[in-house]
Amino acid sequence: MKHTLSFSRIVLSATLIGAGFSSAFADETIRDLAKERGRFIGTILNSEWFNDAIEPEFEEIHKTQFNVVVAENEMKFDATEPSENKFNYTKGDKMVEYAQANGLRVRGHALAWHSQVASWVSNYSGQKEKLLSVLKNHIDSVVGHWKGKVAEWDVVNEAVNDEYDAGWRSTNSVWYEGIGPEFLDSAFVWAHAADPDAELCYNDYSLEWGLREKSKASFVVEQVKRWKENGIPITCVGTQTHIEISHETTPQNVRALAKALAELGVTLNITELDIGFPKGSADQLGADDYAKQGHLYRQFMDVFLEEPNMGEFVIWGLTDAHSWLDDQQGKTQGLLYDKQYKPKPAFDSIMVSLKAHPASEVKSPYPESLFNPEAIKSSAKSTKLSMNLVGRTLSIAGATAARIDVFDIQGRPAFSARNVKGSVELQGVSKGLYVVRMQEGPKSLMQKITIK
Ligand code: XIL
Repeated sequence: MKHTLSFSRIVLSATLIGAGFSSAFADETIRDLAKERGRFIGTILNSEWFNDAIEPEFEEIHKTQFNVVVAENEMKFDATEPSENKFNYTKGDKMVEYAQANGLRVRGHALAWHSQVASWVSNYSGQKEKLLSVLKNHIDSVVGHWKGKVAEWDVVNEAVNDEYDAGWRSTNSVWYEGIGPEFLDSAFVWAHAADPDAELCYNDYSLEWGLREKSKASFVVEQVKRWKENGIPITCVGTQTHIEISHETTPQNVRALAKALAELGVTLNITELDIGFPKGSADQLGADDYAKQGHLYRQFMDVFLEEPNMGEFVIWGLTDAHSWLDDQQGKTQGLLYDKQYKPKPAFDSIMVSLKAHPASEVKSPYPESLFNPEAIKSSAKSTKLSMNLVGRTLSIAGATAARIDVFDIQGRPAFSARNVKGSVELQGVSKGLYVVRMQEGPKSLMQKITIK
């Protein structure tokens, strides 16, 4: 208990508790303003929602206010493949059905991560070929199961370490220790083969700390550059952005990261934002503290709307009544709604930012069809790409001059040809299992092949 609280702070807190929070935007929704701007703004569905152990207000607010959703834990490895090759999609399906019924985009989280991996995977520690096939089977099955329903996957999560001189996380990661860094390349190639239309992200924390030389963010930008040069199908980076109220420079660091990724043709999403106060401080927080939190939320939203290669803005929870911050992070009160489901000043700050950025000025990184069901129907009619392998001759259809890339099972480029018309000989590729990517303009197709 602090004894230094000023009289005015006590009065402010009392006013806040007495009156509760109230919003100036009771009749409008974040969802409508986001949609008009061609953007996705949302929060997770907490595990309590999946277990039917959450207040009815939760879902009511969630589906009214937002247009993108993520499962807090239910699409992770340990949830979807609890025993080897025995998949459990029940909870994930529940979310996908909810999203479809309410017009929400689904982000899938997460495929290759060192944490929340099912315990049976450690039976294969250090066995490279086995781990490659375990990860491939997981990605094929999970991405395949939700093909066309999950718009975007966190393909790899948190693979960079926390060193001052950033590099790959080389300890306590069954994937890195057993396979090496090519587990990342492979994961992207397999995910793209399983759902060629899904956006594929690399997601991590502490990327909001800026592009200092050798920082985590700089390391990620370097890898994205390499992936793009090698034809690895990454389309987005996610900055988790779990921050504290004192981290005032972070919004502008996120802007700098967005600009660096724009040069590489990659989208940046804010994927897990929360802005916490120190744990135990809740009773002492006053209007000025909540205004400061709102100001930070607003700055993130300003950056998000001003950078044309930002697509999604996801907050890691909806109400302070259900947040990983209190249980696991030594932080508190980091979200848009308080424990009584009242919108906090941060909610209004987001609305103010949206209104200050009219739809005519906000660029969307997505095709219009995502927000316009009629356009989806007409684009579906356009010619489909296809390919067929006989011996070593790959015949293609649906494209006039395509680019063909072939990757081996470890995601390494094995063959590449541009301007392919009709067919191409896959010269110099040894026997084995491969993934072929065919591309023409915005159209692309991934298919598995076996060269005998
Ligand atoms: C957290 C969940 O919120 C907790 O319920 C769970 O116990 C641990 O994971 N980075 C991520 C998320 O990518 O998956 C984490 O979610 C938070 C940090």
